[in-house]
Amino acid sequence: MFLWFLAVFFCCGLCESEEGDLSYSLNIGNAIDVFANYGDLSQVTQVVSANYEEGDNVVETELFHEKNIRVFENVTSKETPGDPGIDMNILLCESFEDLLAKYFQNFKIEGTEIPWKAFLGDWIQDEIMRTFGMEFDLERDNCCYVLVKLSKTHKTVKMNVDNNIRSKEYVRREINSLNASDSTAVRRFMKSYGTHYIDSFVTGNFIYQVFKYKRPGYNLLKAYIKVREQRKSNFGNLRFYFSSYFLKQVGEIRIASGNKRIERWARNNLLDSQYLYSRPSLLRVHYNPILAYKLNEMLDNEALLGLNLKILGPLFKDRYKREKYREIVENDMKLWEVNA
Ligand SMILES: *[C@@H]1O[C@H](CO)[C@@H](O)[C@H](O)[C@H]1NC(C)=O
Ligand SMILES: *[C@@H]1O[C@H](CO)[C@@H](O)[C@H](O)[C@H]1NC(C)=O
Repeated sequence: MFLWFLAVFFCCGLCESEEGDLSYSLNIGNAIDVFANYGDLSQVTQVVSANYEEGDNVVETELFHEKNIRVFENVTSKETPGDPGIDMNILLCESFEDLLAKYFQNFKIEGTEIPWKAFLGDWIQDEIMRTFGMEFDLERDNCCYVLVKLSKTHKTVKMNVDNNIRSKEYVRREINSLNASDSTAVRRFMKSYGTHYIDSFVTGNFIYQVFKYKRPGYNLLKAYIKVREQRKSNFGNLRFYFSSYFLKQVGEIRIASGNKRIERWARNNLLDSQYLYSRPSLLRVHYNPILAYKLNEMLDNEALLGLNLKILGPLFKDRYKREKYREIVENDMKLWEVNA
């Protein structure tokens, strides 16, 4: 089975397209082969703060640099500008896996319930922890985490999909001659034209911090948030629930774009003295409008906040071929998922 997979990999991927339809930037409606970088999509998309170089040598970040190809002739899309302010999210995570799921909650890949695996599945635990600003801890308990996110959305772009969307001529020709019962031929098609198309994406930037809790403190915070939400009241007393008494670890502040300058600003300006050794805390922004204003000015459009990939079904007018295609993509996703 594995050898067979390898054989398929060696066929050149996405190379039979027309000149000019190949791209590495973010294009709505374009197709990508999710298996080309499965487990490591974070390497080709700017979604986590993953480069550790210190100092001022600015590393050019790119939102997206995965190979993609134009397969539809007439894609139209709708663009919505984001909110000019900062949005705060407090995400309660029961376990480390849940933390990963919550972090990637705005990323969807049709065919999998665990999209974070496509982004980070191949990373070692230690590396993932660092990305989340956490120290590796030997204590292997798995409770509980709170992810605080302050995000600024620049724009949302969504493709208009109608049933008549026309595929490019050469793709149509290829589909006409495709034998959908031959799974090897279908997988070859997947390598050449992709498995999914970019249905929507959200860009902007966000700053985040992970807090590791002791169970009783976590339960208290959970109850507090629930009551606030029911009464639609504000989070006046939030800081109390983030005191060191409830916590096992306070993570470093990270930024999705990986911008070290902003991370440094956060480290120096968001110190909170309620911790035994005064530590940076994102909650400071919640209580201080001047800091919120400054952060809002710094958050640019350098990260991907959300992405929705859908299976390339609409390429296939023929129902049998369409269903076969979906079935094989979905099956392969399951296989990759258990191996990541
Ligand atoms: C694409 O073109 C087809 C055929 O010309 C048309 O029927 C369809 O409505 C168009 N779709 C979009 C999204 O413009
Ligand atoms: C399509 O593929 C199937 C399975 O490999 C094969 O049995 C069948 O003969 C093929 N059909 C054509 C028209 O080549």
